[in-house]
Amino acid sequence: MIRARGLTKTFQRKKETVEAVKSIDVDVHEGELVAFLGPNGAGKSTTLRMLTSLLEPSSGTAEVAGWDVTADPAQVRARIGYIGQGNGGGYSYRVLDEVHNQGRFYGLPAEEYRRRTSDLLEALELTGLEKRTVQSLSGGQRRRLDVAMGLMNHPPLLFLDEPTTGLDPHSRANLWEHIGAMRQRYGMTIVLTTHYLDEADTMAERVVVIDHGTIIADAPPSVLKREYADDVITLTLASGGRAEEITALLAGAGGEVRTEPGPGAALVAVITTAHGSDRLPAAIEALRLAGHTVTSADLRRASLDDVFLNLTGRSLREEAA
Ligand SMILES: Nc1ncnc2c1ncn2[C@@H]1O[C@H](COP(=O)(O)OP(=O)(O)OP(=O)(O)O)[C@@H](O)[C@H]1O
Ligand SMILES: [Mg+2]
Repeated sequence: MIRARGLTKTFQRKKETVEAVKSIDVDVHEGELVAFLGPNGAGKSTTLRMLTSLLEPSSGTAEVAGWDVTADPAQVRARIGYIGQGNGGGYSYRVLDEVHNQGRFYGLPAEEYRRRTSDLLEALELTGLEKRTVQSLSGGQRRRLDVAMGLMNHPPLLFLDEPTTGLDPHSRANLWEHIGAMRQRYGMTIVLTTHYLDEADTMAERVVVIDHGTIIADAPPSVLKREYADDVITLTLASGGRAEEITALLAGAGGEVRTEPGPGAALVAVITTAHGSDRLPAAIEALRLAGHTVTSADLRRASLDDVFLNLTGRSLREEAA
């Protein structure tokens, strides 16, 4: 569906040169849902804008939905949907007119765009809002309207730039449900950007981590977490254990072990390991057999934030805040 090689965008701002995207190679296969994850200014939107033919690359090539973005932008646009960061809708227009206009934009006959409009409004739970103006909609409703408009031409490939930013958790979950349903219904390939680590983790089949205009990792979330981050087990032991003895008992099964003083006479052992859920019961058992009492156990699974932190030395969570 997408094949980009050496895709680069350099902006000239007064005397300053901004290398927004630096020679990106990326492939997206039919049916995939791929999330671009990265901090502000990483180059996500710029990449999407080049892939959608809205922005001419400074160098490099991209073939999207079978056509070259530079040589055949019109062919590309006919086969994709694009929902930009922020809202595209004219605020004082009525919802129905907005969606109809989108159909006219794609040159659909009136009968066809009317039918598609009522389908989409229903699928995205916007029925009943046809006569409202766009500016009177809530943030979540407006984002769903954006999605409806992006789907008007039944694109086999859909680009969504931060579809859920600014929405409350309920609206985010709701929009994801709709995106999933639309994907099934139209068999779409989806490329989206997000700042939300949990979203990328649970929704995307593949995560492309982008930082300073470069792809620094590209794999399914589970693989990224396995390769670049560890689970952390924290065990609190009742009094009596010597740090060296506990470390020796736990070190056998792999992973890194350190100890620190806990509350009162307790001792806290921290195990860093790729296999937290296997290691946890084994560690407790090893301690029990040696006569120690574990009073509490905590397992923190590796997250995509850990992945980003380990790759860049910075936390995406902190940057987003
Ligand atoms: N038209 C432009 N002129 C000059 N610089 C630009 C332009 N568009 C983007 N940039 C710069 O390119 C870099 C990448 O911007 P981009 O919008 O692609 O980031 P992003 O990853 O989408 O960030 P965000 O998460 O904030 O949306 C930034 O430094 C930005 O300031
Ligand atoms: Mg952006």
